[in-house]
Amino acid sequence: MEPVIKAEEVSKHFGSFVALNAVSFSVAPGEVYGLLGPNGAGKTTLVKILNGIMKPTAGKAYVLGKDVATGKNREKVGYMPQETALYLDNTVHENLLLFGEIYGLDKGTILKREKELLDFINLSKWKNSMVANLSGGMRHRLSLACALMHEPEILFLDEPTVGVDPELRVSFWEYFYKLRKKGTTILLTTHYMDEAERCTMVGLMRNGKLIAEGKPDKLRTEIGVNTLEEVFLHYARGMEK
Ligand SMILES: Nc1ncnc2c1ncn2[C@@H]1O[C@H](COP(=O)(O)OP(=O)(O)OP(=O)(O)O)[C@@H](O)[C@H]1O
Ligand SMILES: [Mg+2]
Repeated sequence: MEPVIKAEEVSKHFGSFVALNAVSFSVAPGEVYGLLGPNGAGKTTLVKILNGIMKPTAGKAYVLGKDVATGKNREKVGYMPQETALYLDNTVHENLLLFGEIYGLDKGTILKREKELLDFINLSKWKNSMVANLSGGMRHRLSLACALMHEPEILFLDEPTVGVDPELRVSFWEYFYKLRKKGTTILLTTHYMDEAERCTMVGLMRNGKLIAEGKPDKLRTEIGVNTLEEVFLHYARGMEK
């Protein structure tokens, strides 16, 4: 099957600092691909490049077969950034409306999606509240809803469950799997190992490199360890040799 996300030797330099070092990987349709790695590993930088928000210093990236530097996939791609991109002085409703309009949805569809998504993120009661008055976790939930407004084929979620309470975290994952069943491909970043275990594929990043990749259980059994944390340590130590 043709990959729907593909990076070829993608590098990103900030001055003399190498944030990404020739990263190549691909994601098949319907995967829930998790990028793991310590703070500063380059996860967000890679996700931004795949979204066409940041230009790579070298290498190419493709989403749905289009070079992200030139092609436009806006209506097929959803992106939840690590730092939420909400309008704080506007209400929850106004934010959802705006995202729906950006993605070219008609008013009827926007209102239908708004209702479904507010139910899902449990914010219906807050519909007319200013975003500035929401808690951090609530803003995070709204940010996810904004990325889902147009039912994208590809979803990029940069730490989607940070600050989200445990109960809702479970329902987020149920929802991700529901989306996957419908054919959505998800690329997410996470620091939670229990979430990494739920991914169909994981990529381990460190110092701007993809140091290992595979299905969680395969990665564990290959090395003969019980947790993905141990897998990570195994490869991280290998890098230092
Ligand atoms: N605009 C920028 N200018 C300079 N350095 C940057 C810039 N953006 C990112 N970096 C650096 O690139 C490295 C990778 O950052 P990135 O945000 O991709 O890491 P991350 O893996 O997402 O980390 P986290 O888990 O903390 O979110 C970091 O050392 C960061 O300081
Ligand atoms: Mg990040």
